[in-house]
Amino acid sequence: MTGRVIAVASGKGGVGKTWFAITLAQALAQAGRRVVLVDADLGLANADVQLGLAPELDLGAVLAGRVSAEAALLAHLAGFYLLPGRSGSGALAGLGGVGLDAALALPRRLAASFQEVVLDLGAGLGTAQRQLLAAADLPLVLATEEPTSLTDSYAVLKLLAQDAPARAPRLVVNMAGSAAGGQRVHATLDGATRRFLDRPLALAGVVRRDGKVPDAIRAQIPLLTRHPTSTAAADVQAIARSVAA
Ligand SMILES: Nc1ncnc2c1ncn2[C@@H]1O[C@H](COP(=O)(O)OP(=O)(O)OP(=O)(O)O)[C@@H](O)[C@H]1O
Ligand SMILES: [Mg+2]
Repeated sequence: MTGRVIAVASGKGGVGKTWFAITLAQALAQAGRRVVLVDADLGLANADVQLGLAPELDLGAVLAGRVSAEAALLAHLAGFYLLPGRSGSGALAGLGGVGLDAALALPRRLAASFQEVVLDLGAGLGTAQRQLLAAADLPLVLATEEPTSLTDSYAVLKLLAQDAPARAPRLVVNMAGSAAGGQRVHATLDGATRRFLDRPLALAGVVRRDGKVPDAIRAQIPLLTRHPTSTAAADVQAIARSVAA
């Protein structure tokens, strides 16, 4: 099997990457796909916390060659697997040499046994993050309506255009006040990429701001389990359908 690698990136922190990556993984699993979520936020991994899991093994142990990726995988009741990151240590943030090569090879290896490999890339764009994004089959760039998020997302799109000119990223607008507000963000970024990077930017979808999201995160229960009929749930499910292979 050759699965697909979907990377979730944003530049700016706190825009909802981890939550979105988890919820997209759950939506794809509900659609019948075999899914693994990789917490590739190498500095400040926390997908396990949002999912209410307490992993014993993590990506750090895998990249150091101490355990296999398969051994570190946790099955979540929501129907997908998690490869947990490492929390707090920051040891992976400056990954180099063998660890970096192992990190870059891992998504493609997982794609041999999963249909969808979803990477939560974390904020910023260090070497590892940048290369993981450029190597993804489907780079998803998250932005919100905040001007600082827009400029950071544009910076990510610009780097990606340099690193992987043939790759077509898609935009996800998160925490939008309305669908129309999200579409305005898309129009702005699409205008910028057409004008300065000479390429259009497709919209994967808009996720509206929804109080059910922080509620689910506080409860450490995935949104599609806790609030299956919420607006944010419907928005992410629509994105899962729109990116269906
Ligand atoms: N659609 C939404 N509606 C309301 N709140 C949201 C939405 N998406 C995300 N949030 C809130 O945004 C906060 C940040 O989410 P999250 O931790 O997933 O962001 P992040 O981009 O992964 O952050 P970091 O850059 O620190 O890794 C969460 O507390 C969550 O409640
Ligand atoms: Mg995060």
